[in-house]
Amino acid sequence: MISRLPLDQIRMDTPGVDHVLHFNNAGAALPPQVVLTTVVEHLEREATIGGYEAAGEASDRLEAVYDSLARLIGAEPHQMAVVENATRAWDMAVYGYPFVTGDRVLTSRAEYVSNVIALLQLQKRHGIEVVLIEDDEHGQIDLRHLETELARGAAMVALTHAPTNGGLINPAEAVGDLCKQYDAFYVLDACQSAGQVPLNVGRIGCDVLSGTGRKYLRGPRGTGFLYAGPRALERIEPPLLDLHAAAWTADTTYEIRPDARRFENWEGNYAGKLGLGAAVDYAIELGVEVTSERLCELAQNLRDSLTALVGVSVHDKGVARGGIVTFTVDGVDPVDVQARLLAQRINTTVSPAGHARLDLPHRGLPSLVRASLHYYNTDEEVSRFVSAVDRLRTS
Ligand SMILES: Cc1ncc(COP(=O)(O)O)c(C=O)c1O
Repeated sequence: MISRLPLDQIRMDTPGVDHVLHFNNAGAALPPQVVLTTVVEHLEREATIGGYEAAGEASDRLEAVYDSLARLIGAEPHQMAVVENATRAWDMAVYGYPFVTGDRVLTSRAEYVSNVIALLQLQKRHGIEVVLIEDDEHGQIDLRHLETELARGAAMVALTHAPTNGGLINPAEAVGDLCKQYDAFYVLDACQSAGQVPLNVGRIGCDVLSGTGRKYLRGPRGTGFLYAGPRALERIEPPLLDLHAAAWTADTTYEIRPDARRFENWEGNYAGKLGLGAAVDYAIELGVEVTSERLCELAQNLRDSLTALVGVSVHDKGVARGGIVTFTVDGVDPVDVQARLLAQRINTTVSPAGHARLDLPHRGLPSLVRASLHYYNTDEEVSRFVSAVDRLRTS
C-alpha cells in the first residue's frame, strides 16, 4: 500500500474513524477536525457578536474560499460560485443556458438522476432533444458514438465524471477534446470526482463544472460550487436573480454581475462556506494526486477481495476506477446488507435502480450495495469489511 500519505496523522485528524467503519464517503465523508472546528467556531462567533458582524470579521477568509476552490480545479477565483449543493450548481448553469427548440443535448448512461430529470423538463419546456450516448465495451462513455453524434450537431454535452452508482471514472478530458473539435458547450458533473481524482478545467476543457462539499472533499453538508468558464459567463443568465446576482440600477433596470457569483444567492451558510474552504485547503495540502492514488488502490483491493467471495458479485465498470465499489450478495437484498452492516457500525448505502435508470436496468441489475472508500480508510478496515460481508452469506 502506498505510504506517501501520513495516514496516522490523517486518522488522528478525523474524529469519526474512532466510531465507525465509514464506507459511505460518496454519501458524505467524515470531515477532518479542521473543518469541524472552522464551522463550529464561526457559528459560535455568529451567536456571540451577530451573524452579519461575524461575516464582516471573516470577510478575508470568506473571500479566500474562492481562491481555494479555483486552485483545486485550475480556475480563476472570479469563475467560481459557492452554492448549496452540486445539483443547484448544475441547475443554475443548465436551466440558464439559452436553448432553442431542436437543440441537441448529448448525455451518457452515467448521468446523475437529478440531471436527467432536469433535462427531461427542459425537453418539455424548450423542445430540446436529449440524446443518449452508449457505453463502450468497458462501460465508459463511447467516444466513437459521441463523435458521431457531435458531428450531427449538438448544443451541449452533459457528462457525469464519476457516477453515484459505481467506480467508473469517465474520460472527461477526451470528451473535452471532442467538444472543442465540434464546438459543443460542455457541462461536467464532478460531484463525485471532486476530491476523489485531480481536476483541471483547462485540461478537461469544460465550460461548466459542478461539485459538492460533503463527499470526497470532506466538507460540510449543504455546500457546493460551480465553475463557469469564459463561454459560460458570456452565454448563461442565471434562471433566478436576486440583489446579490444583479444590481437594481434604476426603477426598471437591473444589471447582472459579471462574475460567476451571479449564480449564487444572497443569503447563505457562512459557517458552511468557511468549512468548505477549510476542506479544500486540507485536500490541496495533502495533494489530490497522492490521495487519489491511495484511494483507487484501496478500492481496487476491496473489489478484488469481494470478487473472491463465493456468492458476492462486484459491478463496477470502466477503464479508470475510483473509490466507489458496488456489489450484490446472492440471496440477500441490498437494503438488508446495508442494515446488517450498519448494525455493526459499518456504513454503506444502497444505489437503487431508480437512481440510475439509464444504467442499472440496462445491465439487468437491481439495486446495489455501495461501499465508497476514502484515502483515510485502512487495509484493516477493508479486511474487516470483507469478513463482515462474508458472514452475511452464512448467518
Ligand atoms: C454524480 C452526482 N451528481 C450530482 C449529485 C448531487 O449532489 P448534491 O446532493 O450535492 O446536489 C450526486 C449526489 O449523490 C452525484 O452522485
